[in-house]
Amino acid sequence: MKNFKRYTVTAALPYANGPKHIGHLAGAYIPADVYTRYLRSAGRDVLFVGGSDEHGTAIPNQALKENTTPQAIIDKYHALIYDCFKKLGIAFDVYHRTSEQLHHQTSQEMFLDLYNKGLLTEEVSEQYYDEEAQVFLADRYIVGTCPRCGFPNAYGDQCENCGSTLSPRELINPRSTLSGKAPALRETKHWYLPLQQYEGWLKEWILKDHAGDWKANVYGQCKSWIEAGLQPRAMTRDLDWGIRVPLPGAEGKVLYVWFDAPIGYVSATRAFYEEMSSGKLKYAQPQRDFGKVKADDWQARWKDPETKLVHFIGKDNIVFHCIIFPIMLKAHGEFIVPDNVPANEFMNLEGDKMSTSRGWSIEMHEYLEDFPDKPDVLRYCLLANLPETKDSEFTWKDFQARNNNELVAILGNFVNRALVLTQKYFDNKVPERGPLEDVDKAVIGELKALPERIAASIEGYRFREATAGLMDLARLGNKYLAETEPWKVFKSDPARVGTILNIALQIAANLAIVGEVFLPFSMKKLNTMLKTESKTWKYAGSDILLAEGHLLGDSQLLFDKIEDDVIARQLKKLHDKRNAMDPIRTAIKPLKPEITIDEFSKLDIRIGKVLSAEKMEKSNKLLKLTIDTGVDKRVVLSGIAQHYTPEEMVGKQVTLIANLAPRKMMGIESQGMVLMAEDGGGKLKLLQPSELLNPGSIVS
Ligand code: MF3
Ligand code: ZN
Repeated sequence: MKNFKRYTVTAALPYANGPKHIGHLAGAYIPADVYTRYLRSAGRDVLFVGGSDEHGTAIPNQALKENTTPQAIIDKYHALIYDCFKKLGIAFDVYHRTSEQLHHQTSQEMFLDLYNKGLLTEEVSEQYYDEEAQVFLADRYIVGTCPRCGFPNAYGDQCENCGSTLSPRELINPRSTLSGKAPALRETKHWYLPLQQYEGWLKEWILKDHAGDWKANVYGQCKSWIEAGLQPRAMTRDLDWGIRVPLPGAEGKVLYVWFDAPIGYVSATRAFYEEMSSGKLKYAQPQRDFGKVKADDWQARWKDPETKLVHFIGKDNIVFHCIIFPIMLKAHGEFIVPDNVPANEFMNLEGDKMSTSRGWSIEMHEYLEDFPDKPDVLRYCLLANLPETKDSEFTWKDFQARNNNELVAILGNFVNRALVLTQKYFDNKVPERGPLEDVDKAVIGELKALPERIAASIEGYRFREATAGLMDLARLGNKYLAETEPWKVFKSDPARVGTILNIALQIAANLAIVGEVFLPFSMKKLNTMLKTESKTWKYAGSDILLAEGHLLGDSQLLFDKIEDDVIARQLKKLHDKRNAMDPIRTAIKPLKPEITIDEFSKLDIRIGKVLSAEKMEKSNKLLKLTIDTGVDKRVVLSGIAQHYTPEEMVGKQVTLIANLAPRKMMGIESQGMVLMAEDGGGKLKLLQPSELLNPGSIVS
């Protein structure tokens, strides 16, 4: 493996159009944070870059929904998202915004560079236009039926149901999200990046050079994209929210959000070095000592081949980070391209897709409101279930089990036992170590080996495995105490207990080093309990971290048990939220018990024709219908008066249960029942055959 001089690590810039949920955390931010915390601890020169993606049609669209301005939307959600990241310990060195002037400038420079090199092609084409709102409809301003899966609310650029990337012209029955009307086609001019010209290079760079080291899910997606053949892709849009296209004759046009957003990583890096060199920190928040820096140092992080560039993203971003952005960087010529893009798949929630808009989600701020003192529990639970190779699942039961059976019962319990026994037997001082027995030597051997194994997992982007390694370290400590049983030995051999607790405390001190990468808040607590400064990774594996005689601090519990009622409340909250946001779905009734075909065939269902219809006096629900059933003409009362007028009903075909026992209502006998279908939204419709049939036709 190549040895790099420095690392630039990015995590997808979240759209500042709403809160972000725990699936986003699992997709990109938690793995990126663990990776960068590890690199920092290992003494590598790393910069962790993030920020808000504040352009694209998603922003003004949300402004419309919230009845406010795009600026108000990005200000609100940038602040909310960044605040949550901080509270969850996602330790960015810089968290920038694509609405910043510096980013506009960086993006326009990039665009002009490609334009001036003659690498962009200009094309006039027909695009959807909303004649009422008098604007072109880009991407998310247009919805329609997905041509792949039939989902009725797919966006112009992507179907959120099946994940397909779409273009607006592929949508069936397209509608404008502004007017709700069908759009018209109009000619407009745009600038395209001819992706197809880079196919040969992509084949070399990804399919050949990264065949071994990129994750199978990422490599596979790239391969199928490249092999399907790439098309020119428009890098501009007709929109008034975004970065102006810096060309004459491009009024009303902005850069495509997927052109400017990834450049946001570069702008953020520039902002970091500008602020650090001037000493005026606004977006920079250095997580380690960067020494003396110059504003120009951003260049090495993006242009020096000895820099390792790594993008952490979710799978819906793969094409942009592996194909389009690298082509931009390559076309420019001076930039490096990513060494790896360890994209994750999606995390589902309690058996269904996570979705903020459908109300089936746990938003970061919602979690933090309910569990303000447990950021690490969420980090741990997500890490243990990362969707690294396939979609995974978060359930509240698993969250409880991970907390109670692992964090409390293994990690917390081990640390607590080692500390409490030291308090009890040795006045809270690290006891002396005497001669070592085989069991001690074995445990010290494993202690030395584990951190290296964990480091290899992290450097190989296998964060689940790394997290399991951390828990193995705690397990090692627990097993050691269970085998040596110091509490039984103390009476007869206190010196032996000193040796055992000395070793147990060294394991605890190792947990503090290794664990900081995964559970930073709890490990800070552990350092206080051990009265140690946090130590770097190079000390991990050592069995002499704590000196004999070192006085420890007060012990406290690292984690506490989560009871059933807490979990039950979260489940209820989750269902309540979905019900509040999706009334139709709520009203979908569970299935009735099974019946046999014989039971079904007892029903006489047939097509009838309404001969006359009238309102019932004193009832606003019922209509009195006279129906030709093929065998007779009869009166049926039907509760459809709020959905159909008597005039509308005359002549209509209906479906009738003809052998239902007659029933008297409001003094009139109803001889049968007209079938209706009702959705949850209160819509009630007659059930009719798809074509005209003779009265008396049998339904079976
Ligand atoms: N905002 C995009 C999303 O949430 C991610 C942008 S990543 C960047 O899917 F590279 F473009 F910034
Ligand atoms: Zn679809």
